[in-house]
Amino acid sequence: PRHLLDFQDWSPERLSAILDNADTMLQVLDRPVKKVPALQGLTVCNAFFENSTRTRTSFELAARRMSADVLTFAAGSSSVSKGESLRDTVEVLTAYKVDAYIVRHHAAGAAHLVARYSGKPVINAGDGVRAHPTQALLDAYTVRQEFGSLEGKRVAIIGDVRHSRVARSNAELLPRLGAEVVLCGPATLLPSDLAALPGVTLTSNPKEAVRGAHAVMALRLQKERMGGGFLGSLQEYADTYQVNEGLMAEAESGAIVLHPGPMNRDLEISGEAADGPCSRILRQVENGQAIRMSVLYHLLVGRD
Ligand code: CP
Repeated sequence: PRHLLDFQDWSPERLSAILDNADTMLQVLDRPVKKVPALQGLTVCNAFFENSTRTRTSFELAARRMSADVLTFAAGSSSVSKGESLRDTVEVLTAYKVDAYIVRHHAAGAAHLVARYSGKPVINAGDGVRAHPTQALLDAYTVRQEFGSLEGKRVAIIGDVRHSRVARSNAELLPRLGAEVVLCGPATLLPSDLAALPGVTLTSNPKEAVRGAHAVMALRLQKERMGGGFLGSLQEYADTYQVNEGLMAEAESGAIVLHPGPMNRDLEISGEAADGPCSRILRQVENGQAIRMSVLYHLLVGRD
């Protein structure tokens, strides 16, 4: 595929190749001089229409480490605030000879539109509640790094599944790579359509979700996508769905704790679980840069 908008056109072999190449990228990042000439002469536009810490900075570093020129476009400080449309914005940036786009947007489908308007390769860095493919790739990579393989591994994802593009992308990706996914949250935050995906089950019982799990991922309550906000009691939510040491004791021995970030500590995850010996949350962050280098390389240079 020319773009990474979601996993629709991506075979398990090509997805595995992205993970394999990330091993090489981690080796580059371990060197004293963390730079390779792979993308020299190319210009990558980091177009963020919604806030981000991890995805924006890691994509920027990933492109720079591979010698690309990076044009950072932050919608908040742009003429989007004066009413300029997505199409006009993309046409302006493309006129500067941008070779590829990384797009985050609050609207589902925005990355597809950028691909159409620009005619350039586009990587979706999160579009509304729909997809966040590089996050799922770095999550899959972190589990594979821990256990050597994804085959037969069980990953429990607990929290606000309904508003999570991370949960959706993981539910699409992990079963294609041989893992099983259990999505867990209050019934109101658990969209039943996801149960139709192969290798995915749903439950509102967190203990049931983590039983036999090799990795447990906590998700933030995405109040910004809830319209009227979260209507329940936060204390009650935390009492039932928080990923903490008590819940991890019910998981498989050696199970790891994941969180895509940003975290609301002591709500969906306890401080002890976030910082404890089972946590691989900062490893996810570290792996994110390598995965994004691998995706950029794959799309802009070639697969091998
Ligand atoms: N996980 C994630 O996408 O984090 P940011 O919103 O900080 O990029």
